[in-house]
Amino acid sequence: MMEQRAAPVDRDLVLAQLDFCREKVDALLPRFRNSFPAPSSEGLAYPAQEENFDWTTSFYSGMLWLLWEHTGDKKYLDALEPHLASFCRRVEEPGNVDTHDLGFLYSLSCGPAVLLREDGRARGCFLKAADYLLARYFPKAGIIQAWGDLNDPANRGRMIIDCLLNLPLLYQASRLTGRGEYRAAAYSHARQAQKYLVRQDDTTFHTFYMDVDTGEPRFGRTAQGYSDSSCWARGQAWGVYGFALSFHHTGDRSFLDTSCRLLDYFLARLPEDGVCYWDLCFTQGDEPRDSSSAAILCCGILELLRHLPLTHPRRGEYEAALRRIMAALARDYTTRDTPRADGLLLHGVYSKPDGIGVDECMIWGDYYYMEALFRLLYGTCAYWI
Ligand code: GLY
Repeated sequence: MMEQRAAPVDRDLVLAQLDFCREKVDALLPRFRNSFPAPSSEGLAYPAQEENFDWTTSFYSGMLWLLWEHTGDKKYLDALEPHLASFCRRVEEPGNVDTHDLGFLYSLSCGPAVLLREDGRARGCFLKAADYLLARYFPKAGIIQAWGDLNDPANRGRMIIDCLLNLPLLYQASRLTGRGEYRAAAYSHARQAQKYLVRQDDTTFHTFYMDVDTGEPRFGRTAQGYSDSSCWARGQAWGVYGFALSFHHTGDRSFLDTSCRLLDYFLARLPEDGVCYWDLCFTQGDEPRDSSSAAILCCGILELLRHLPLTHPRRGEYEAALRRIMAALARDYTTRDTPRADGLLLHGVYSKPDGIGVDECMIWGDYYYMEALFRLLYGTCAYWI
């Protein structure tokens, strides 16, 4: 008889944390009706961005969608309305679409409106975003360029590990339209990321340049990590989660294996309390932690656990790691005792090399913390699958 498995994290803790998140987000509702929380806080307060230009503007929408699903309270749909209208304008009046982050942006804004509510206008905008993302695909190199104009020499042919979270937009666009080219581009990009962004020792480059004319690999470079050869924590977390998602969408088991390998490396580099430093080259000392990477990692573990057989030899270890990290975040990293903070999680890092958002709240850290709680309660999250 199969052993009865306990839920990976205590249900009461999850419910109490979701209550805490709801109270914090409710306090933001009036302030961010027609604007967006900036990517990272300043002095723990999120400045308001009036324009929808950054890669992070959808994380607040994602939090509202999670709360609407969790509570059924219409006030979250009302709060989403101006945000969704802004995302529609962003693709209907181009000017701000020169980025692969269209995935993050539309998977958490128009995506849930399509998947959960069959919203026709949102569907059109979601598919337009997928078209813009597809236009960044270089067939010879088999990759999607991350940033900027496709002819900008500094960015031409540069892919980055974060893009794995942008691929669900393409996989879902294929499902919605029956057109295979979105999925084919996403699958090819994931394979190339697996080949070139993942190193032999199961660490990852943040970014890697391809020659888009010959298709040949060039070299890896960091952008937000400690060095070109170090392992930026958030990149590794995007890798764990992103390869598990590409497995979900393609059935290619090599992605599951890659996700496990990246996770094994990550877990071997954790400090005592289980919340990583901003770069995994650090395992002790005074360098800042990055709670946002820890939250992304938890979502990655939860997606991975959906696919690993119950008999997988490392499953128990992954569940234990999830329990340990979520408990540490809830106990020591939330803003529960810091009422002046806008965010949910303290001690995040945006870009240490640029000195941006160091030891602050990150809006994506808040989102992924809520997503991890939501996944623990409901088993999944529709936005990426
Ligand atoms: N996707 C950008 C970052 O993780 O900072």
